[in-house]
Amino acid sequence: ELHRIPHPPHRLPFLGDVLGADRRTPLQDSMRLARRLGPIFRRKAFGKEFVFVWGARLVADLADESRFAKHVGLGVANLRPVAGDGLFTAYNHEPNWQLAHDVLAPGFSREAMAGYHTMMLDVAARLTDHWDRALAAGRTVDVPGDMTRLTLETIARTGFGHDFGSFERACPHPFVTAMVGALSYAQRLNTVPAPLAPYLLREASRRNAADITHLNDTVDALVRARRAAGGDGRGDLLDRMLETTHPRTGERLSAQNVRRQVITFLVAGHETTSGALSFALYYLARHPRVAARARAEVDRVWGAAATPGYEQVAKLRYVRRVLDESLRLWPTAPAFAREARQDTVLAGEHPMRRGAWALVLTPMLHRDPEVWGPDAERFDPDRFEARAVRARPPHVFKPFGTGARACIGRQFALHEATLVLGLLLRRYELRIDPGYRLKVTERLTLMPEALRLRLERRTPAS
Ligand code: HEM
Repeated sequence: ELHRIPHPPHRLPFLGDVLGADRRTPLQDSMRLARRLGPIFRRKAFGKEFVFVWGARLVADLADESRFAKHVGLGVANLRPVAGDGLFTAYNHEPNWQLAHDVLAPGFSREAMAGYHTMMLDVAARLTDHWDRALAAGRTVDVPGDMTRLTLETIARTGFGHDFGSFERACPHPFVTAMVGALSYAQRLNTVPAPLAPYLLREASRRNAADITHLNDTVDALVRARRAAGGDGRGDLLDRMLETTHPRTGERLSAQNVRRQVITFLVAGHETTSGALSFALYYLARHPRVAARARAEVDRVWGAAATPGYEQVAKLRYVRRVLDESLRLWPTAPAFAREARQDTVLAGEHPMRRGAWALVLTPMLHRDPEVWGPDAERFDPDRFEARAVRARPPHVFKPFGTGARACIGRQFALHEATLVLGLLLRRYELRIDPGYRLKVTERLTLMPEALRLRLERRTPAS
């Protein structure tokens, strides 16, 4: 029943709607189309037709878990050679999803999170040392680069007791280069017709194979070291993967599956959080009044304590709103796919066959004027005041996806990001070049391009 769904007017045979499309920014292209075509639309490329949905009413219906489930397609499916049946890329029917979910979920409990807090503080101290040195030398700081160093070290340390030495390197760690390569390749695969990919992307696919080998080798070395040490990551994710048996069936994750989970967590656990922190720092630098209010909250809640305790992080309500509002405008994992579990009708209007699927365009859902008002493009953390949140319908804010397959690392990411924003606000004033125009880079996840800030050391209010 696709004929009822609008699409762009000029379509080419075979090439579809690629005219005027920029292959480096497929997401932002889709946002432009969304504005023109409305809450549900089709987009065709290379013989494949994709349905995009972003209207709040339609997305709320797609969130109904009894009729829809996660669809592993496009970007996610392209990551299967890297992450196989790891949590993020597993098909719903694969038994390893439930097994790994049940084994790993306690690794994200409140109790486990409180255990990660001190390690997160250690890594954050490496960031502030790095920034203090830049400040002393009169240099600006590379925000996305440094946030990526921070979040990679945080997940490596809390998850696997590993240190990539990111802050001691001038260039990214080879693991990061390989990972970014694999992510970019997965995105590029969507921009060429599948049968032609081996020819058009011959060189790139060779590099991709090398990247995947590098990822596997890094992870295998890490697991070997842990096994040789006989465990004792003190209950980190890797210990859980190696030692925990399923509470009911007594089953364990296989060695092959552990490798896939480690890669999954190293990748899923840092890119998106790094982007979220980078966008939040961008908005804080652009909105000095918001920054002043957030800073005042940090001073009030943390007082003179040298480092905040675990409980003191969630108390930064306003800082958390800044983060939420940044994730509203630029949800760094900008789309997720939903498929019909059986023949059904979407929102009483669009018939869908079992297995048919649609992509939820999160940045546009987060800008739907019917929910967020005519000024949806404006940055305003007060949209996340408790009263305002209660006044909105459910399923209108989805940076972490939805349902059983929603992000397992949500609390982890929010704790880490709130903690780091608090520490940075307390220590520095953030200055942005007034000529900087926000440009968003895409490599499956989103990142503010070439964002640099100038720091001023602040004397904390006593
Ligand atoms: C799943 C976003 C941080 C691990 C997801 C999904 C989204 C998402 C949208 C669902 C994808 C889909 O439906 O296809 C984010 C954002 C983050 C973040 C925006 C940061 C701001 C993290 C962290 C970890 C993590 C820190 C690990 C420590 C995962 C995993 C899944 C997932 C393993 C797959 C869950 C499953 O299917 O069972 N994330 N994520 N994420 N995320 Fe995150």
